Amino acid sequence: MKFFLDTADLDEIAEAASWGALAGVTTNPTLYARIGGKLADFNEHIKRICALVDGPVSAETTATTREKIVEEGRELAALAPNVVVKVPTTVEGLAATRTLADEGIHVNMTLCFSVPQALLAARAGAAYISPFVGRFDDISEDGIEQLDNIVSALAGYDFAPCGPAGKEVEVIAASIRSANHVTQAALLGADIATVPFNVLKKCVEHPLTTNGLAAFEKDWEKVKNA
Ligand code: G3P
Repeated sequence: MKFFLDTADLDEIAEAASWGALAGVTTNPTLYARIGGKLADFNEHIKRICALVDGPVSAETTATTREKIVEEGRELAALAPNVVVKVPTTVEGLAATRTLADEGIHVNMTLCFSVPQALLAARAGAAYISPFVGRFDDISEDGIEQLDNIVSALAGYDFAPCGPAGKEVEVIAASIRSANHVTQAALLGADIATVPFNVLKKCVEHPLTTNGLAAFEKDWEKVKNA
């Protein structure tokens, strides 16, 4: 499973990229608002992110009609070669995805919550599908079980190669809230987990690593002083 960072914060992206394991970034209007982003600076901001990351960067459309989504999608795709156009899983979004995919533009269909939505997104030419895990948990449902259903259903079929380098559709486990979500997403076979920076940091940490390192440091002092 690959790791994407789910943020629009340049410092977080630069820091995570420096760790050597980051494969991409996903953003959305909420994440851009969270960093105080302004509409006039949006395109430049996406370009800055694209320059920091060696991998796909999802930038979300905000229009609601297929024509406008396509228009926005083309503009976003022209910002950098690694832009992926994020489109909501709606009727208009599906139609726009078909047009963008036919033009060779990579689309990440987002706000995906069901197997039929995921299958339709894949058939419409999505390069990526983003099932949201945590938002199911928010309403007392099991987001991991829903993700499992989507990954299993997609695995049973072949889809047109609409992704980068001719790859078939990939599942991005999104709305990830904990390292345990990451574990579960990996075990059930999600291609990618997009995680907030605080969760990525937790993914590196383990108390036994911390304690083990402290013991090694203490014993190395003994060796140095022997
Ligand atoms: O990538 C989508 C993700 O950012 C949604 O996460 O935590 O707002 O449900 P959350």
